[in-house]
Amino acid sequence: MRLNRKLEHIEFSLQQKSIEGANGFNDITLVHNSLPQLNWEEIDTRCKFLGKNLSVPLLINAMTGGHKELEGINGDLAKVAATTGVALAVGSQRAALEDTSTQYSFSVVREMNPQGVVLANLGADCTLEEARAAIKMIKADGLQLHLNAPQELAMAEGDRKFKGILENIHMLNRDLEVPVIVKEVGFGMCRESIRRIAGVGVSYIDVGGSGGTNFMAIEEARCGKETEFSWGIPTAISSLEGLSLEKKDLNLIASGGIRHALDIIKALAMGCPLVGMARPFLKVLVEGSYDQLNTYLADLISDIHRLMLMLGARTIKDLQRVPLIISGNTYHWLCRRGIYVDHYARREGIF
Ligand code: FNR
Repeated sequence: MRLNRKLEHIEFSLQQKSIEGANGFNDITLVHNSLPQLNWEEIDTRCKFLGKNLSVPLLINAMTGGHKELEGINGDLAKVAATTGVALAVGSQRAALEDTSTQYSFSVVREMNPQGVVLANLGADCTLEEARAAIKMIKADGLQLHLNAPQELAMAEGDRKFKGILENIHMLNRDLEVPVIVKEVGFGMCRESIRRIAGVGVSYIDVGGSGGTNFMAIEEARCGKETEFSWGIPTAISSLEGLSLEKKDLNLIASGGIRHALDIIKALAMGCPLVGMARPFLKVLVEGSYDQLNTYLADLISDIHRLMLMLGARTIKDLQRVPLIISGNTYHWLCRRGIYVDHYARREGIF
């Protein structure tokens, strides 16, 4: 049952088409700089995440594991993460907690990427013991706790109990030996949710916004049901909702529907220290090859350098100071939510 579900998630997610602009980033414009006064070799995209160095602030987000057939995918994702110096998360490790014979489909990532940033993954309702076992399984640098109520509700066999999750996150964040990253899976987060999660002490939140992989539609397709409506907060809006809290110790990860270097650069310029992508990597690997995935990631990183040069930003810190315009539905949303007033007006150089 679980293997079928995992394979169907891959199959149905690869059938989905990205809808241009659905992640909200078309409403964000970065202003071209005609005099960057920089050379290509000077561009420095390095950053720190969970105490380790990344070559670029990018995360291959949680996808799979839990069966022998999935070892190859996780192994290849880990190899490419090691080669290019980006972070990597595994898919939910619940299956391996229930059937330890599948553990290698997760621990392969540590074998292939012994030095890099590797994240464990479980639902946010897991116990402390389960969380520790998942972390130990892959010698994880951090644990992603996913929130996915819309997905569960779309699944015939899904959870229907969502009480007490925040208290559980509080306990896990307090008692675990590695940092916790609370993430959505493509439905986004508003600032009230982000404030409550940060309020129990969590410093890493992945907004997992809408506009990319749509897990409500995937679960409905698995049940043979036609999708009638979509749900969620676009990634650009979710990120800005969270950034508007201006919490210094809160690290917001932008993910959900990120499909090219320009969206990555926009998210970094807005102030997110890290950007995540999931399905595009899977698609290139499963429908192409490991070599194609390597080239895809190298091109993505090269495009990030290109855009930074065009903006005159030598470092990621410099990017956060380039002029940025928020317009369209995102601007309207921020105004209606009373968020736009100060931070973004200042950011756009209006004050
Ligand atoms: C996912 N995602 C996911 N997330 C999670 O926290 N645990 C999981 O087990 C999975 N499994 C999974 C399987 C597959 C096949 C895909 C494509 C995705 C969600 C993923 O991490 C991410 O939040 C969303 O896919 C949105 O990002 P993209 O795909 O639009 O870049």
